[in-house]
Amino acid sequence: MDKLVIEGGAKLKGEVTVSGAKNAVLPILAATLLTDEPCVIKGVPNLRDTNSMLKILRSLGKVAEFDKGKVGVCAGKASSYIASYKLVSTMRASFCVLGPLLGKLKKAKVSLPGGCVIGVRPVDLHLKGIKALGADVSIESGYVVAKANKLHGAYIYLGGVYGSSVLATDNVMMAAVLAHGKTVIESAACEPEVVDLAEFLIKMGAKIKGHGTPVIEIEGVKNLHGAVHSIISDRIEAGTLILASLITAGDVLIKNAQYKHLGALLDKLDEAGAHISRLDGALHVKGNKKLRAINITTLPYPGFPTDMQAQMMSLMSVTGGISVITEKIYPDRFMHVSELNRMGAQIQREGPHAIVEGVKNLSGAPVMASDLRASAGLVLAGLSARGETSISRIYHLERGYEFIEEKLINLGAKVWREKE
Ligand code: EPZ
Repeated sequence: MDKLVIEGGAKLKGEVTVSGAKNAVLPILAATLLTDEPCVIKGVPNLRDTNSMLKILRSLGKVAEFDKGKVGVCAGKASSYIASYKLVSTMRASFCVLGPLLGKLKKAKVSLPGGCVIGVRPVDLHLKGIKALGADVSIESGYVVAKANKLHGAYIYLGGVYGSSVLATDNVMMAAVLAHGKTVIESAACEPEVVDLAEFLIKMGAKIKGHGTPVIEIEGVKNLHGAVHSIISDRIEAGTLILASLITAGDVLIKNAQYKHLGALLDKLDEAGAHISRLDGALHVKGNKKLRAINITTLPYPGFPTDMQAQMMSLMSVTGGISVITEKIYPDRFMHVSELNRMGAQIQREGPHAIVEGVKNLSGAPVMASDLRASAGLVLAGLSARGETSISRIYHLERGYEFIEEKLINLGAKVWREKE
């Protein structure tokens, strides 16, 4: 396994282009199961997770090619309806093949995804939704087994104890597009990635409205045809790069970034005193100003994204004052706290809160990545720290950040890879 080594202190300067959104491309690739016709998906990031999803599509009998020129072509009839534990356990987002398999084949056998370090990751809302559409659902040896003679439209309230669910909204939407009649999803997720999926389904011939709001209406159609679609840019990568510029007091132009997808983050950074210019399709971030400590609470979109919580904690670790970070989506999403404290951060966890007392400098140290966004937070901390930081288990990082080393090196960061 590799580790990433960072010599901290370099101010990032220059231009960087954000890749396609991981959390949009995964359900969109799954949605190609809803037609036998070819689909061409452009702007596909070359990530571990993307390749995992393509492997699952191939295991289901689809032709699923990915030319590193960012194009994914998926075609042909799904000859299998079973998504194996071996494949689903490598990436829990694979669970979003459940809806399209059920919608297209009226049967699906998908391994339960299991939990991960950020939380238990239940799927009760996914199952509630497909049952409402008429599926018989049972749990057999760790698999969700779903089948239906036919699927019918339904009114489905999809809010959970932690609010809306992104992939449950995706799964139910993909099961409903070929159902008989009208489906209304109440308390639907509003994330831009859910909107991008809906836009792709509409290009395939689906009848959907209200996507991006808490109420999505779907009128079932007989079948869907192939389509060509370009993935939206990755707002979490953009947010991570914004904080990379701020934490190194750099000066970076971040291209292919939609500021309208980053409202909550930019609002908080404005409050902290950051200088961020919103341009057309880009953001210019000059991190030359002392920032103020701020409090954040993660919430479903358009609230502050939980996927930016670790990265913001790193920035607040070197910002004077006391910041309180409250995690309302995944209350256990604090694996990065102990690693940041190894670097000299002063962070105290109190249940779903982390109290961060900013220090002047972090010190480089050997640390361990535990999940995708925690590893991004450790990279930011390493860029800012005095001395050398080595981050082990960086396969976590490779799941969601395309060419991140090259992007940082091009901005002047001293980053390299070593064998563990
Ligand atoms: C998506 O996961 C993202 N993944 C996650 O990003 C992101 O953190 C999460 O949404 C929240 O924004 C992808 O899109 C592939 P949820 P998802 O269902 O859909 C609870 C990353 O780093 N819940 O919106 O699995 C759940 O426990 C990843 O890119 C239920 O209670 O998350 C959580 O507390 C990490 N029952 C809350 O809802 C359910 O049936 C939101 O989870 C489903 C979820």
